[in-house]
Amino acid sequence: MTSKILFAGGTAVITGAAGGVGGGLARKAAVLGMNLVLADLDSESLYTLADSLDTEVLVVPTDVTHPAALENLANQAWNRFGRVDLLFNNAGIMCAGFTWEISPEAFGRCFAVNVLGIHNGIRAFVPRMLKAGTPAHIVNTASMGGFLPSPLLSPYTATKSAVFMLSECLYGELKMINAPIGISVLHPGPVQSGIFGSPFGDGGGNPVARQFIDAINQQIAGDGGITPDQSAELTFAGIQAGEFWILAESEFLDPRFRERVEGILERRPPKIFGAE
Ligand SMILES: NC(=O)c1ccc[n+]([C@@H]2O[C@H](COP(=O)([O-])OP(=O)(O)OC[C@H]3O[C@@H](n4cnc5c(N)ncnc54)[C@H](O)[C@@H]3O)[C@@H](O)[C@H]2O)c1
Repeated sequence: MTSKILFAGGTAVITGAAGGVGGGLARKAAVLGMNLVLADLDSESLYTLADSLDTEVLVVPTDVTHPAALENLANQAWNRFGRVDLLFNNAGIMCAGFTWEISPEAFGRCFAVNVLGIHNGIRAFVPRMLKAGTPAHIVNTASMGGFLPSPLLSPYTATKSAVFMLSECLYGELKMINAPIGISVLHPGPVQSGIFGSPFGDGGGNPVARQFIDAINQQIAGDGGITPDQSAELTFAGIQAGEFWILAESEFLDPRFRERVEGILERRPPKIFGAE
């Protein structure tokens, strides 16, 4: 099923737009002729990005963990452009370490941004989209990490698994009421971005965890990661094709995920990549 939403002349709202993945999405949406509403905590980078785009852009500094901030974002988007065709619930943070050493604050913050931030976006935008009655599409950013348990990334992978479930339930709900709103779950990685910059919250980070994060960073910065613009190309192709799972075939993920599902069905203990 291909998507019927309006690209040229339509409006895209992007949270986490100042970051790597979000910036790529903004540039691609601008090339398609969309008006843009850019949201992030980092307002300075948002204005720099806005200045570089050849389209109408509204910048709304936003903390996605606050429901009122998403209400404000939706109000401002409709007031300025009169419509929202595409919403990217994309803001996200990393949190790493041995599970028993991660502070409740850091663990909670990861859920507040990665999961509740999406719920806040859905609560603010879906009622308005339903009222508008025109085709719209929502993309929730998850991660391949949500499919595979990874030692030292329990908060992050738990939030991303939650994003699948939330999105699949939402997809079913919108189908139940025949809403003209499509849903996709985006698994962008690995993409060169700032996400592994400070994954330890206020905990400092155990040296073993630090070494693990440094190795991932080096791999993504080397030839292990695609650019945000390449990621955005794949994402928009997925939206245009009406894909629920925007997830490239992967020699890394596919066999391990199959093994995981079969292991669950056979009631075997998990095989954890990186801890065999
Ligand atoms: N880069 C990858 O390899 C990769 C892989 C899988 C999934 N992802 C996901 O892609 C999304 C974007 O991440 P990225 O890789 O571009 O990282 P990034 O750190 O470059 O960008 C994330 C952006 O989110 C913003 N942000 C953080 N907390 C926020 C809040 N409370 N409110 C509003 N904005 C907030 C940050 O300021 C930043 O600009 C995230 O959801 C991430 O989990 C990234």
